[in-house]
Amino acid sequence: MADLTTRFLGIASPNPFWLASAPPTDKAYNVVRAYEAGWGGVVWKTLCEDPPIVNVASRYSAHYGPDRQIIGINNIELITDRPLQVNLDEISQVKRDWPDRGLIVSLMVPCEEEAWQRILKQVEATGADGVELNFGCPHGMPERGMGSAVGQVPDYVTMVTQWAKKHTRLPVVVKLTPNILKSRLTLGM
Ligand SMILES: Cc1cc2nc3c(=O)[nH]c(=O)nc-3n(C[C@H](O)[C@H](O)[C@H](O)COP(=O)(O)O)c2cc1C
Repeated sequence: MADLTTRFLGIASPNPFWLASAPPTDKAYNVVRAYEAGWGGVVWKTLCEDPPIVNVASRYSAHYGPDRQIIGINNIELITDRPLQVNLDEISQVKRDWPDRGLIVSLMVPCEEEAWQRILKQVEATGADGVELNFGCPHGMPERGMGSAVGQVPDYVTMVTQWAKKHTRLPVVVKLTPNILKSRLTLGM
């Protein structure tokens, strides 16, 4: 069989097929199922500091086509709703059990250097291979100055990425959203 071994940012995985940060990567049970099915790596569902996110009442909304047919449903899920330590313990265990698979941890904390420093140290201690900075989340978090609120402002992206590079030796991936407000680009905000 062909050798599909991949190195991305120095992170080795047996193949280039990775799961993005989302429900299939939200806990050990699901990540292990993915590895058993052959996935080369995962980006663990976005972590935040405690207290964890609370998913409130459903606010589903739809996208309509020209003839009012529903062509898509908005995703209302937020980031992890499980305590940070539970996620960290599971990440450590999964990485120990599956050392040949890639495991990057997605993160989103407030725009404060100390908050990033704290969580980066905790993730580093799990043995994970890298971190992904979630600057794309459009749900719930922009109001708190996180997620896509950061990704739409180049200066914030630069600032937080510099903090991440300063406070961890792990490879850092920056995840941006294509949904940038045109007015911000025009104004150069
Ligand atoms: C239900 C759901 C939950 C998601 N949760 C996260 C998340 O916690 N963190 C994140 O960075 N992206 C999250 N995403 C975005 C995905 O990682 C991915 O970027 C997006 O679904 C686009 O990839 P796709 O076209 O393969 O679906 C989520 C997406 C969905 C549909």
